[in-house]
Amino acid sequence: MGRVDGKTAIVTGAASGIGAGAAAALAEQGAPVLLTDINDAAGQAVADQINSDGGKAIFHHQDVAEEESWLAVVETAENAFGPLKIMVNNAGIAIGGSIVEFSLEDWRRQNAVNLDGVFLGTRAAVRTMRDTGGGSIINISSVAGLQGAPGLTGYCASKGGVRLFTKAAAVECGRAGYKVRVNSIHPGIIETAIWHGDITQLRDSDDDLARRSMGFRDGANQIDLDAMAERIAPLGVKGVPRDIAEGVVYLASDESRYVTGTELVIDGGVMA
Ligand SMILES: NC(=O)c1ccc[n+]([C@@H]2O[C@H](COP(=O)([O-])OP(=O)(O)OC[C@H]3O[C@@H](n4cnc5c(N)ncnc54)[C@H](O)[C@@H]3O)[C@@H](O)[C@H]2O)c1
Repeated sequence: MGRVDGKTAIVTGAASGIGAGAAAALAEQGAPVLLTDINDAAGQAVADQINSDGGKAIFHHQDVAEEESWLAVVETAENAFGPLKIMVNNAGIAIGGSIVEFSLEDWRRQNAVNLDGVFLGTRAAVRTMRDTGGGSIINISSVAGLQGAPGLTGYCASKGGVRLFTKAAAVECGRAGYKVRVNSIHPGIIETAIWHGDITQLRDSDDDLARRSMGFRDGANQIDLDAMAERIAPLGVKGVPRDIAEGVVYLASDESRYVTGTELVIDGGVMA
């Protein structure tokens, strides 16, 4: 018997990295999973892999920031697998840039995915879960939602928002008697594609402090994750998506039935 046997799950941003790892781990533990992402080819490939490994998965295209997308996503999951029990709001982007150079457009683009997306996903999940016996909502924040970092003001703001939004939703759902638990996970340095995307915008920055803090050394234009992990994580190494997926399975399962509004930090000791 799996730890989340038969519990219908949705994982956003599941085409890659932590979302793909979380979807696979939930499926291994018996949850049928609807994966969503803007990257259709990669998302379908992750779903195909889960199915060929013996799990149950379908992929559905979604931009989490689009309010209209949510009705169809929840409906598709519930029509295929039954009432929604697990919602993992994982889709996220990281845009680097010093505060003096950061554009309002990037600030809004980042908040639309990281914060609006989490709000919309949580709202959609609560709306159905409160009528169908409850469930578990897991919002992926970051250590950057707990502590500031130069070169990441916009990202920190969005992830800090996810942290407190999650707590407020947990308190409200608990008090209302919905049987819906809401928790956040705060990953540290995890090897995924996010470190090679818009975050590297900072490489062109004039702000040397922010560049060095983010791991750009001596004119290099790649972030050195191993060096950064060695510097800031007491365990000395970076993590992998599976490290976060294990936390997702715990918070999704009944093992965490008395856990709500908490912030699960999985970071090799960075925040310690
Ligand atoms: N990797 C880390 O070190 C780390 C650390 C802390 C927090 N996180 C958080 O973990 C989550 C997953 O990131 P990851 O590291 O796996 O990165 P990733 O880039 O590998 O995966 C992110 C996924 O989200 C998808 N996505 C982006 N915008 C979307 C949108 N509008 N709608 C739907 N999907 C969208 C991408 O296509 C991608 O598949 C993010 O919220 C990120 O902020 C990551």
